[in-house]
Amino acid sequence: ATERSLVLIKPDAVRRGLLGEILSRFERKGLVVEALELRTMDGELADQHYAEHVDKAFYPPLKNFMTSGPLAAAVISGDEVISVIRAMIGATDGRKAAAGTIRGDLALSNRENLVHASDSPDSAKRELALWFPNL
Ligand code: CMP
Repeated sequence: ATERSLVLIKPDAVRRGLLGEILSRFERKGLVVEALELRTMDGELADQHYAEHVDKAFYPPLKNFMTSGPLAAAVISGDEVISVIRAMIGATDGRKAAAGTIRGDLALSNRENLVHASDSPDSAKRELALWFPNL
């Protein structure tokens, strides 16, 4: 069934000039970009977006990174898009992500891993409401 996912193309991707490359992979797959905005995350939005991680040791540097510059926030839709995008992105740690995935091909870090995508229908619903309340 058709689903929507919240995708963040993170500040490292924008800095490295990989925005087009990453969007292009999603487009070539046949997914539909329904909304796309360059935004800079503030601390409050970071705490809300990463509510399940705020108490973890990796959160302070993650928050610092995610608020460090503009990112591209997108709503992407397609058949079973949530699991399809997770597969295209690859494992969290770019050093371990499989070749052929976005992180496997383009990232070498556990934190600066280029892309975030909703990991379940429930988190997609929550994240879309947070980032695109009018959609
Ligand atoms: P993301 O898909 O946005 O969800 C949580 C983010 O936290 C993850 O991508 C990484 O950027 C970051 N992250 C997760 N685990 C670690 C870790 N062990 N060390 C550093 N950053 C992490």
